Amino acid sequence: MPHLNRLKRVKKIIESKDVDCLLFSDISNIYYISHFKGFEGVLLIIPKDGTSELYVPKLEYERALEESENVNINVYSESLEQAIKDFIGKLKCKKIGLPYFKTSLWLANKLSKISQEIKLEDISKEIMEVRAIKDIDEVEAIKKAVKITEKGFDEALNILSEGVRELDVAAKIEYTFKVNGSYEVAFPCIVASGRNSALPHATASEKTIRRGEIVVVDIGAKYMGYCGDLTRTISLGSVSSKLKDIFYAVLEAQKEAIRKIKPGIKASEVDAAARNVLKEYGYDKFFTHSTGHGIGIEVHEYPRLSNKSNATLKTGMVVTVEPGVYIRDLGGIRIEDDVLVTDSGYVILSTYPKDLIE
Ligand code: GLY
Ligand code: MN
Repeated sequence: MPHLNRLKRVKKIIESKDVDCLLFSDISNIYYISHFKGFEGVLLIIPKDGTSELYVPKLEYERALEESENVNINVYSESLEQAIKDFIGKLKCKKIGLPYFKTSLWLANKLSKISQEIKLEDISKEIMEVRAIKDIDEVEAIKKAVKITEKGFDEALNILSEGVRELDVAAKIEYTFKVNGSYEVAFPCIVASGRNSALPHATASEKTIRRGEIVVVDIGAKYMGYCGDLTRTISLGSVSSKLKDIFYAVLEAQKEAIRKIKPGIKASEVDAAARNVLKEYGYDKFFTHSTGHGIGIEVHEYPRLSNKSNATLKTGMVVTVEPGVYIRDLGGIRIEDDVLVTDSGYVILSTYPKDLIE
């Protein structure tokens, strides 16, 4: 049933953008609408009237039958190109709405060349806004992903010791995710120690972790296709007083930003709350990314909590709050939680302790 509701919400875009049909070719939107977790070469066409059509390669037919909901399944025996021509003819779509940010130039070119009558309309903003409001099933899946992610921290703490490599910690975390029911990671585990912690998107490396180093652990399990995304900063032994000072500034910034969350507040105000705290401590110029982002099927979804965002938070959104400070050659600190926007404010979905774990 939830997917029927999602399909209904997505279908409203047909009216609002005045198009004949919608076309999706990326696995995240296709999974969102049809529950089919395709691999590649899959198309979903949603016409104004009638059933939606899923086009899959032959090898995916059985899996599509088992997984998909609310769609007709078509197997394309020749090529994806031929399938595109077929559906345009069959469904008489002339004005096609598709998310440009998830559509290849190859596909857009193929569509345009079929006939001069074909017109393409960008629906990136509209589909992002629909997906931003999570239904109950989606929130439950994210909560479970968060719980599994927290188990990853337990194991990271168990294994973390002098001489262990970042990759060893990451391997233990990924193993923990899998045995707890997570099929895949939301993104490659970040285990960044010492100097590496100053790189917000450092991936785990062969670097050995030493006593006195800070370790940023930013990890996310996926559950039923939905992401968790949490960061804790751990110190192996005692770290410098400067890093401790930064840690408490980041923690205060994170808590202050979370306190601002409620329906109707601008995403940019949440970002400003974190940035202002860091400014008081003199660290704002080292905070080089936005305060957070929506999570769902993808780890980075709408809305972004940044100073440039025009988004307003609404009940049902799930966002991360993750300020960080990164100083070259010294290190970095980031603390991240996943927060559900509710009618009365917010609920923090992650309960893992945030203190500098020594
Ligand atoms: N957890 C990685 C990121 O949010 O960029
Ligand atoms: Mn994040």
